[in-house]
Amino acid sequence: MSGNTESTSRHSGLTRRGFLGTTAVVSAAATFTALSSTRVLGANERIGVGVIGTGGRGNSHLSVVRKIQDEANVDVVAVCDVYRPRAQKAAEKYKVSQIYMDHHELLGDPKVDVVSIATPDHIHGYQALDAIAAGKDIYCEKPVTHWRQFKLTKRLAREVANSDRVFQLGTQGMSDDAWALMRQLVRDGLIGQPIHAECGYFRVGD
Ligand SMILES: NC(=O)c1ccc[n+]([C@@H]2O[C@H](COP(=O)([O-])OP(=O)(O)OC[C@H]3O[C@@H](n4cnc5c(N)ncnc54)[C@H](O)[C@@H]3O)[C@@H](O)[C@H]2O)c1
Repeated sequence: MSGNTESTSRHSGLTRRGFLGTTAVVSAAATFTALSSTRVLGANERIGVGVIGTGGRGNSHLSVVRKIQDEANVDVVAVCDVYRPRAQKAAEKYKVSQIYMDHHELLGDPKVDVVSIATPDHIHGYQALDAIAAGKDIYCEKPVTHWRQFKLTKRLAREVANSDRVFQLGTQGMSDDAWALMRQLVRDGLIGQPIHAECGYFRVGD
């Protein structure tokens, strides 16, 4: 989802430059890299990243930002988790000085430009709406919301569209430019005229 043409051009600027070797980190790396390349920054300024949720995925995001911080001119400035020991552990490991236990406080931090949301599924939508309202760009773990929250998903899509913020969903496989290349090859006649397509979605759970 993107807010306007500026956001769209930011998306189209998602190059492979941030590629770090594994599918799991490509999308986040590309997003943070792209965000940093579209900002007008002073010589000593960096894009400030705030990570909300410091469990499995949050730690992965922290690791990505640390790896690309010089190339992408980004820095993790704050972490947030409702479970303090986990936030503290992540802050120590990735040398982050600011810890919050309430995401509203992190969103109120002027050093935070972009947030990564790595909390449980049913919280993503609300935290993303709060982030938009606070003027932050967002990298959000998949799924965008819990599957029962379809209205919330639509509301988020509307609010992102009406904002000038970037929202990138962390469905890494779909960020792979192999799909765009394949679409082009099919359009160019690779398999002749397509007459039938099948796709499936398989996941254990409700
Ligand atoms: N992209 C992928 O390949 C991939 C893989 C696994 C999980 N996920 C998704 O990533 C998200 C996180 O998964 P995980 O495995 O890291 O979970 P996790 O349980 O390891 O981490 C979630 C963290 O969020 C914290 N949290 C809960 N409520 C919070 C709140 N209101 N504010 C701040 N922190 C809060 C928890 O204390 C926990 O530390 C889920 O939505 C999951 O579906 C994506």
